[in-house]
Amino acid sequence: MKGILLAGGAGSRLYPLSLVASKQLQPVYDKPMVYYPLTTLIEGGVREICLISTPHDLPRFRQLFGDGSQWGISFDYREQAKPEGIAQAFRIAASFIGKDPVALILGDNIFSGGDTFNRAFAEFQGGATIFGYRVHDPERYGVVEFDQAGRALSIEEKPKQPRSNYAVPGLYLYDNDVVAIARDLKPSPRGELEITDVNVEYLRRGTLRVQKLPRGFAWLDAGTSTSLHEASAYVQTIEKRQGIKVGCPEEAAFNHGFISLDGLRQLVGRLPGCEYRSYLESLL
Ligand code: TTP
Repeated sequence: MKGILLAGGAGSRLYPLSLVASKQLQPVYDKPMVYYPLTTLIEGGVREICLISTPHDLPRFRQLFGDGSQWGISFDYREQAKPEGIAQAFRIAASFIGKDPVALILGDNIFSGGDTFNRAFAEFQGGATIFGYRVHDPERYGVVEFDQAGRALSIEEKPKQPRSNYAVPGLYLYDNDVVAIARDLKPSPRGELEITDVNVEYLRRGTLRVQKLPRGFAWLDAGTSTSLHEASAYVQTIEKRQGIKVGCPEEAAFNHGFISLDGLRQLVGRLPGCEYRSYLESLL
């Protein structure tokens, strides 16, 4: 499966921080925000990644990740000229996706805990797999309604009166039909190509699977200065308590055999003396 890491957008809710660097490059405790969703893709076994960002910010991502070979992965960089919706990513990346299935992850979504995602990647056979996560403020998100048997009945984007408390987080797995579905989408009243409309189309076709994420699983959206601070505090708490890092691409690449022990050793050798280096040394 290929992967799209969507890291554009306006970041207006992070003003004035977003004047200094794009949202997805802001620090979340000890690493740039984009490390977290990137690690989620690597943990899912994705090696070919298309990173989409604004013309202004794309060079910075290129500088940060290079061609990806240091982690045994590859990056293809593409511009989104204007933030015209999450589903526009499939139009921008159509030639990258080719005939493959694809996972899309949002560059400001941080996930931690459990193996639901890894199993979903491993078991993916077609259609679409998305997730439902219980939140107290579902009206801010795409909201999924379930029947008694736990099957999805409806999905609505930012409903005023949500039919459930289950929001759809920013990781979506699709078969190749998504390219044609996105091509045929019409912009919503707010002028965006909506990811919810893609999911509604899969629901209409009867090929949408919505997996509920368990209690204890963390989904953090770091889009405002308050939630950014909370995400940092959360990551620090987990890392300090458990002594393991959240969102460490080197570790995930090593665990998946994308890089060898020797490759990891070489990576560590190039890092300056810092806590991050000490952590990677402890893995060696
Ligand atoms: P949002 O948080 O909905 O939007 P935003 O990042 O533009 O922030 P703000 O509302 O503060 O202006 O976007 C969710 C994620 O998707 C985020 O990582 C940015 C990304 N995104 C794009 O890259 N392109 C787009 O067209 C949209 C709508 C979002």
